[in-house]
Amino acid sequence: MNTPMPYRRSGCSGILLPEISLGLWHNFGRNDSRETCRDIIARALELGICHFDLADNYGPPPGSAESRMGDLLSQEFRHHRDEMFLSTKAGHLMWPGPYGDWGSRKHLLAGLDQSLRRLKVDYVDVFYSHRPDPQTPLEETMGALVHAVRSGKALYVGLSKYPPELFHRACAILREEKVPCLLHQFRYNLLDRSCEKGILPALTEEHTGAIVFSPLAQGMLTGKYLSESGDVPVLPADSRAARQDSVFLTPEQVQKQTRLVRSLNILAREAGMPLTQLALRWLLRKPEITSVLIGARTVKQIEECARAAGCPPLPADLLEAIDALSGGE
Ligand SMILES: NC(=O)c1ccc[n+]([C@@H]2O[C@H](COP(=O)([O-])OP(=O)(O)OC[C@H]3O[C@@H](n4cnc5c(N)ncnc54)[C@H](OP(=O)(O)O)[C@@H]3O)[C@@H](O)[C@H]2O)c1
Repeated sequence: MNTPMPYRRSGCSGILLPEISLGLWHNFGRNDSRETCRDIIARALELGICHFDLADNYGPPPGSAESRMGDLLSQEFRHHRDEMFLSTKAGHLMWPGPYGDWGSRKHLLAGLDQSLRRLKVDYVDVFYSHRPDPQTPLEETMGALVHAVRSGKALYVGLSKYPPELFHRACAILREEKVPCLLHQFRYNLLDRSCEKGILPALTEEHTGAIVFSPLAQGMLTGKYLSESGDVPVLPADSRAARQDSVFLTPEQVQKQTRLVRSLNILAREAGMPLTQLALRWLLRKPEITSVLIGARTVKQIEECARAAGCPPLPADLLEAIDALSGGE
C-alpha cells in the first residue's frame, strides 16, 4: 500500500482532496448491507480517503444514500465529521411538480435542506449544481449556490457537467459574488476522453479543481466483464451490469466496449499491473486532476483502488501505447 494518501489542492483554495475519493452513487442505497457500507467508510478513512461524494438522488431509491450516510455519520462516525469532506448536489429529479428538478433557486435550496436533514449534519463541505438547466437563468442557479454558502449550509460550491462556455459564464457570476467555483465534476476515463478538448482546459483557465467521475467506466475498466476468449462479455452475479436495480450500465454498453477493454487489459498485463491500476494511475498522471472519484461495493475494491494513489508516473512509452488504443489528446 502506498501510504500515506497524497492530497492535491483544488485550484487556488484551501481544499485538499485525496488522490482517490469515494462516491456513494451506487452501493449505499436502501437495499445495500449497512454493515458493508460501514466497513467501506471505515476502511476509506483508514486509507486517508476523507472525501465522500453524495447527491440528493443517489440510492436507489433517491435519497437513500444520504439517509444511509446520515445514519452512519450519527451512529458510528460522529467524531470524524471534521476529518471528512462531504459533498452533495441538487439538480436531478427528486420530487413531483415544477420544483422537483433542475436549477431553480427553489429546487436547489429545498434540495439542500432535505440533504442536510437526511445526512443529519448542519452543513456540507461542497454543494454542487448537479447539471446545467437550459431554462432557468444562470444568475438564478448561481445565486442559489451563493446563498447556500452565505447561509452557512455549505462551505464551498461546485458545478457538475457544465459545458465550457456555460462554465466560464457561471464562474464569472460566482467570482463577482466572491464565492468562487472551486470544483467541477465530469466523466473522464480511458473509454471517454471527450473532456480533454472541452472542459479540462477551461478548468485550468479558471483555477478550478477537477474531480473526475466513473474513472473505471462503472467497473468495465477492471476487466471483470472480460471472458477467457471471444468478445462476448461475462456478467458476474453482483456486478453493476447484472444488477436489476442499476439502469446506468447495461450489458449492451459492456458488449460495445469489450474489444477496447481487452486490448487495454493486455497493455496493463505487459506493464505488470492490473487494469484497475492502469486506469486510475493514467488519470492521476495529470496534475490538474484534483481527485479521482471511484465507487466501491466492497472493502477489497476500495483497498485496490487506493493502491493507485502515490504511485510513480506511468512511463512515456506506456502512455503512447494507451493513446494509440484509446485516442490521444
Ligand atoms: N456528477 C455526476 O453527475 C456524477 C455522475 C456519475 C458519478 N458521479 C460520482 O462518481 C462516483 C463514482 O462513479 P462510478 O461508481 O461510476 O465509478 P467507477 O469507479 O468507475 O465504478 C465503480 C464500480 O466499479 C467497480 N469497482 C470499483 N473498484 C473495483 C475493483 N477494485 N475491482 C473490481 N471492480 C471494482 C464496482 O462495480 P461492481 O458493483 O460491478 O463491483 C464499483 O461499483 C459516484 O459514486 C458519484 O459520487 C457523479
